[in-house]
Amino acid sequence: MNFTKQATLGVQGLQAYQPGKPIEELQREYGLTNIIKLASNENPLPTSPLVQEAIAKCSKNIARYPDGNGFILKQALAEKHSVDKNRITLGNGSNDLLELITRAFVTPTDSVIFSQHAFAVYPIVTQAVSATAIITPAKNWGHDLNAMQAAITKNTKLIFIANPNNPTGTWINKTELKSFLEAVSEKILIVIDQAYFEYATENPDYPNSIKWLKEHQNLIVTRTFSKAYGLAGLRVGYSISNPEIADLLNRVRQPFNLNSIAIAAATAALNDTNYLKKSLELNRAGMQQLTQAFDKMELDYIESMGNFIAVKVGNGAKIYEKLLLQGIITRPIGGIYEMPEYLRVSIGLTSENDAFIKAMQKTVVT
Ligand SMILES: Cc1ncc(COP(=O)(O)O)c(C=O)c1O
Repeated sequence: MNFTKQATLGVQGLQAYQPGKPIEELQREYGLTNIIKLASNENPLPTSPLVQEAIAKCSKNIARYPDGNGFILKQALAEKHSVDKNRITLGNGSNDLLELITRAFVTPTDSVIFSQHAFAVYPIVTQAVSATAIITPAKNWGHDLNAMQAAITKNTKLIFIANPNNPTGTWINKTELKSFLEAVSEKILIVIDQAYFEYATENPDYPNSIKWLKEHQNLIVTRTFSKAYGLAGLRVGYSISNPEIADLLNRVRQPFNLNSIAIAAATAALNDTNYLKKSLELNRAGMQQLTQAFDKMELDYIESMGNFIAVKVGNGAKIYEKLLLQGIITRPIGGIYEMPEYLRVSIGLTSENDAFIKAMQKTVVT
């Protein structure tokens, strides 16, 4: 029996997402004990005490199913963003939303547009529904919105824009993104993926796309608790869109796509403004620490608005392996990202960044 032939055409051609190497795996493979993971753009700070408290309280009651509508979290998000609750869809990470959107709207005869070097989940969700991916060439590593607009065909159903983008850290300013929204037909859905929103907000030219939802019915903004809010392990994300779109997304999601602990933890995380502030400060200082070191080492890098940075090291895969031997996990970004000369490194704690810099000095410069 050949089960691959039985799968849908899209799934037959699919390659699974490659996550950053887990710490435990490196421990098992190399017998190392002291490991630093700078591979998955996580928040390096320990979990907020308010979140830990909420988790402890909630964990006493997990014999019951969660609230399938995530009422308390939606309520808190609606207040925070001054939007109506019926615009919000919760997801098991924002990744869930990217998939739900594609599943709800995109058919095999449709095309989906995204940029070269854009987040790897866009090609996966497109391929999974057997649709055609139109990948536009990047401009200075970032999205070329003119090229994306020119790539639209009568079959285009959806456009993904990561702002900031992972793994390049590039971003699109208010004026350019707004003109793009004005120029694209309302029949085409535009997803603005703002997984790294919080890190970018200090720049006054960086757009909070939620403000445009009323003028652009086809806009879907996705956000996550995995980065600045420090909840990557619990999987909580959400989208804000037109209520009709939110209703359709709700029809395709799993009935309980967020577990009770995740709902309680994310609601508590929203209240911990101190944790968020500390996270952003740590990131800012860490970004400076790394870029200064790269400057000293005369290594090129792409200026980043996220909690990670892509640095040019020559043979990314080789340097990645050499760093692994020293107990440091980074992310090689050849393959689907088409950046074989670069490594992506997440901003860690000051001591972790230091260890990474020292290992780089030994590995790249010598
Ligand atoms: C651009 C971008 N979007 C979405 C995600 C998905 O994150 P999550 O599913 O943890 O919300 C990531 C994760 O790294 C990302 O980099």
